[in-house]
Amino acid sequence: MNILGIETSCDETSVAVISDGKVKSNLISSQLFHKDFGGVVPELSSRAHLQIVLPLLKKSLIDAQISKNDIDIVSVTAGPGLIGALLVGLSFAKSFAFSIGKTFIPVNHIEGHIFSGFLMEEKPEYPFLCLVVSGGHTLLLIVESEMKIKLLGTTIDDASGEAFDKVSKLIGLGYPGGPKIQQYAEKGNEDAIKFPVAQLKSIYDFSFSGLKTSVIRFVDKNYTDRIIPEKDLPDIAASFQKAVVSALTRNVTSAINNYEVKTISVVGGVSANSYLRNSIKEIGSKQKIKTVFPSLEYCGDNAAMIANRGDMLYRNGKSFELNYNAFASLDLSIFL
Ligand code: KG4
Ligand code: ZN
Repeated sequence: MNILGIETSCDETSVAVISDGKVKSNLISSQLFHKDFGGVVPELSSRAHLQIVLPLLKKSLIDAQISKNDIDIVSVTAGPGLIGALLVGLSFAKSFAFSIGKTFIPVNHIEGHIFSGFLMEEKPEYPFLCLVVSGGHTLLLIVESEMKIKLLGTTIDDASGEAFDKVSKLIGLGYPGGPKIQQYAEKGNEDAIKFPVAQLKSIYDFSFSGLKTSVIRFVDKNYTDRIIPEKDLPDIAASFQKAVVSALTRNVTSAINNYEVKTISVVGGVSANSYLRNSIKEIGSKQKIKTVFPSLEYCGDNAAMIANRGDMLYRNGKSFELNYNAFASLDLSIFL
């Protein structure tokens, strides 16, 4: 069984082929030009997807050593994401599936991330606790099976990746912020500045906007015109990173104290963060719970995770017509 995956929800165009459960190709083209604008410009993103998606498909088939007629399923991200960017992938996937006469499967992007641990050799075991940390989402979930997901908590304001990106921009490190903050944090003292970690009524929810504001206040109080000398950046980055990771690990700890889970899986762009990975691994080893992280190529947006989820939906008997209104129907809550 050959499954094609297509991902165009934000600033990565990706095409992948999974054959009998093995990733045969996973090409990712990142739109680096957005950094000149300090964030993703939706219209430019759509146009860039349009230019690259067909060449990526051709190369992906060559890498996987199959022809287009060998494809059995065409799966594609249908949301959430930037509407124009999604439309490029979705329209492309629908027409391609129609032209080769094969099954079309729209996939929820977040579900793609949630199950990305299954692309690894060592897979999550059900039920598993899943922490989704990306640019647009921060979710804590109990994944009971392929088709049963229970939402425990979410962010009430900014997503964790968004917090990394906003603070990075504020302190002059640019976009995307996560990798830059991590890089500076490695040279800094995480206890140099006490940034607050929000305490919410629900022990599973998150809030990062207060933290962002306190970094703004710190910068405004200590530096004129927000110009921060290079030597001060590592301590700010490390202290901020520690505060974000403390909020994430605190809720993960609450969840494993209250739910019996066999695995903790952290997924999404921020799961590439090594400080977060180490903190979660520490919790796992203390509590004797297996931890699973996608490898770096599967942390950020990628089509392998979309093909993988498309495969799961297909095996669970989900079928979709080409005129399926993915935008209206596909949201995470259908599985709650
Ligand atoms: O999952 P993703 O690629 O796209 C969305 O679905 O949003 O996540 C992108 C987010 C960005 O906010 C980026 O700054 C963050 O992931 N990120 C990181 C790291 N690498 C990427 N955050 C913290 N540490 C990293 N090493
Ligand atoms: Zn994503």
